[in-house]
Order: sequence, then structure tokens, then C-alpha cells
Amino acid sequence: MTLKALSFIDNLDESSKVADIGCGTGTQTITLAKNTPGDFIGVDMVQDFVDIFNSNIKMAELTDRVKGMVGDALSLPFTKDSFDLIWSEGMIDSLGFEKTLNFWNAFLKKGGYVAVTSPSWLTRNRPAEIAKFWTDAGSGLYAIEDNIASMQKVGYSFVSAFTLPENCWLEGYFTPRVNAEKMLLEKYSGNQVVEEYVKSMRYEVDLYRKNKADYGYVFYIGKKM
Ligand SMILES: C[S@@+](CC[C@H](N)C(=O)[O-])C[C@H]1O[C@@H](n2cnc3c(N)ncnc32)[C@H](O)[C@@H]1O
Repeated sequence: MTLKALSFIDNLDESSKVADIGCGTGTQTITLAKNTPGDFIGVDMVQDFVDIFNSNIKMAELTDRVKGMVGDALSLPFTKDSFDLIWSEGMIDSLGFEKTLNFWNAFLKKGGYVAVTSPSWLTRNRPAEIAKFWTDAGSGLYAIEDNIASMQKVGYSFVSAFTLPENCWLEGYFTPRVNAEKMLLEKYSGNQVVEEYVKSMRYEVDLYRKNKADYGYVFYIGKKM
């Protein structure tokens, strides 16, 4: 899906600058860097993730073009009008979709692109337990048309939006998490905080299986006007 989103971006060459904000350990940054030219900076607020990011970049032999740094998505130390593309998977909803896109707009060159994923309502059916789950997680779900309108309001023309298929959640996220949860429960056997945490992770999976028709992650791509 990262590559599908990348297929809408037509402005990159060897001199391009790309920021991947909320890069985590860099899976999508590596996919991007292997499939398009330019220099990349990954930004994440968690030092441990940035350390793993930089070691993954080394293993992928991309250190000449890709660097990771600790930073805050809403306080970027970059020059205005300097990026050709800002990428962000799985973070923007927790900071505020419109507010964050508005802030990032200043760092893009005119004609530069933004590509982000955000959980969104897919139908007019809005189960209360889903709304509550995302609000409790410090986020909020909006309809695709509302997010597109927000994007346009803060200075982007709309390029594309597409929903991530179910296997991204299941094979790419929930399934690998099962082993991590098992390891946590073994390592912290009898620890109530860990048990509650794992319970809440499993609740998220149940919720998704039950309501997946009504919400999901959507990739939004826009172009700075
Ligand atoms: C769900 S993870 C997604 C990681 C990666 N983009 C991916 O798709 O695998 C969200 C990431 O955003 C980072 N993050 C959250 N708030 C942030 C902020 N204000 N500034 C920078 N990074 C942030 C977290 O540390 C985490 O690595």
C-alpha cells in the first residue's frame, strides 16, 4: 500500500527531499527509499525507535540517503518550503488531521506532496463502541469526505484517497502482535498492568473483526497549492 500511495507522487528526482514523520523503525521509509530517488529524513519522538530505524537503514545499505532523528511532528526544525514530499503512516490522527496538515504545509515546496494514513469512517454507520475506543486512544474518526475537505481547507489539492485492505490490519499488524503479547505475558507473568494492556490490545482486534465494514485506515494524498 506504501507503493500504491507512492504511485501518485510524480515530482521526485535525485535532488528531492522527503520527510517521513512518525517513522517508527522505518519499514515504510525503506520501502520508499528503495523505490524512489532523493534524500530522506525519518523523524520520530521515541529515541529507541530512531536507534532501530538507523540500524535498519544501515542493514538496508541506505545510509548515504536516509537518516533518522528524534523530533516532534508539531515542532519540526526544518526550513520552510524545503520538502518535496512529507510522508506519515499511522500517526496523524493522534495529533489532529487538519491541524497537522496545516502545520506541515509550510515545510513543503509549492507543488510538493503529502501522503498520510488515518483511521476513518467508511460508512454512515457509526458504532458507539468504535467511536469510544478511538476517543479513549486520544484520536478521532472522521469520514473520508471530511478529511478530504480538511486537506483542501489548509492548502492542498486533493490527489487520491484509498482504503487499506483488511490484510494490512490482520497480516501486517494484528497477527505479528500475537507473539509479542505472548512474550510480554511470559516475561511479566502475574503483572496486572501488562495483563490489562494485552487485554486492551485483544479488545481492539475483536472490535475490528466485528466492525471492519464501518471503519479502517485510509491513505490520503494531497498536493500543496
Ligand atoms: C503507529 S506508529 C507508526 C510507525 C510507522 N510510521 C509505521 O507505519 O510503521 C506511530 C509513530 O508515531 C510516533 N509519534 C507519535 N507522536 C509523535 C510526535 N508528536 N512526533 C513524532 N513522532 C510521533 C510514535 O513514536 C510511533 O513511532
